[in-house]
Amino acid sequence: MNQRHLEHTTTMTSAPPHLRGRYQRDPAMRVASVIGKVWFPLWGRFTHLDIPGPADQVTTLKVVGREVVAHDNNVVALTMAAPDGGELTPWYAGAHLDLLLPSGRMREYSLCGDPADRNRYRIAVRRIPDGGGGSIEVHDTLTIGSSVRIKGPRNAFPLAAPGHGSPAKKLRFIAGGIGITPILPMLGAAQRLGLDWSMLYTGRTAATLPFLDELTGYGDKVAIRTDDRYGLPSAADLLGPMDAGTAVYCCGPPPMLHTIRTELLGRGDVELHFERFSPPPVENGRPFTVTIGSSDRRIAVGATESALAAIRRELPSVPYSCQQGFCGTCKVRVLEGAVDHRDNILTGPERDAGVMLTCVSRAEGNHLRLDL
Ligand code: FES
Repeated sequence: MNQRHLEHTTTMTSAPPHLRGRYQRDPAMRVASVIGKVWFPLWGRFTHLDIPGPADQVTTLKVVGREVVAHDNNVVALTMAAPDGGELTPWYAGAHLDLLLPSGRMREYSLCGDPADRNRYRIAVRRIPDGGGGSIEVHDTLTIGSSVRIKGPRNAFPLAAPGHGSPAKKLRFIAGGIGITPILPMLGAAQRLGLDWSMLYTGRTAATLPFLDELTGYGDKVAIRTDDRYGLPSAADLLGPMDAGTAVYCCGPPPMLHTIRTELLGRGDVELHFERFSPPPVENGRPFTVTIGSSDRRIAVGATESALAAIRRELPSVPYSCQQGFCGTCKVRVLEGAVDHRDNILTGPERDAGVMLTCVSRAEGNHLRLDL
């Protein structure tokens, strides 16, 4: 990605079975449950709230390759390896890395190389002049030989292959511009597995589309459609014939995703998997105010903007990354006010301990005071 999110909506139609078939009043499970309820909120108040797992460990890699991969020169692909050339943590199509940039910014980028290459990771970054500065820092400071600290890989956009765990019969990939990055390894996997797949790759002009050269090997399975020649794509252009049993994987700009989601509403016979590379629109937002605890500055948050966006006007260096409620970088402690939590990653104990993610969550009422 250049910034992501998968929105899976999984509706549970029946209660899950008990753990290992145990009866829910199992005394041992009840004791463990009570201990958990008491211990975790207390623990959360006195410690940092993260439990570092393998994906949270920081690794230092070296940039060993740098290549311009879009003809408009605006996208560079960086290849990274361990300083000793050793094996890296394995990954699968759809995974991403967190880059911990020298400035302190953290940004997430999809892995777009070959998962079978155990010694190198590749990402691609479009330069966004009016963004938050992360892409410019990557372009301007990460040259061959640079050290770069990463966390991950992690996968929030996994590919479920038909015949290999997915009931789907065929795959439709749709990529808009830099949205090609998580899709590229998926194409390789689909091809290797001999699956029935097709892809539409779209963007403003051919010069803005990264990795066109690599896609030529897939022949007419990949259709390129640029706005300058054909105008903006319709839902039919993007999706093609939508046979029952198709699984759609797409990554691209918000209008493209909106078109696809709208078109597939009510199509229970089609799977939709997507990843964003920009913040989702705020839904059902009401205005509220945020007070910065350290300065007493009060900031107005508009109905259609995130608390993070408003806070960044006052504190431009406040940490953030995904802006979609899954990386946890914007996590902050709430000093006053009730939170309308809209993320999917905070645990109950974390919420109970007064933590919120400012990129997606909002005030339940009119005001929040934050520990910033
Ligand atoms: S910026 Fe990633 S969770 Fe908020």
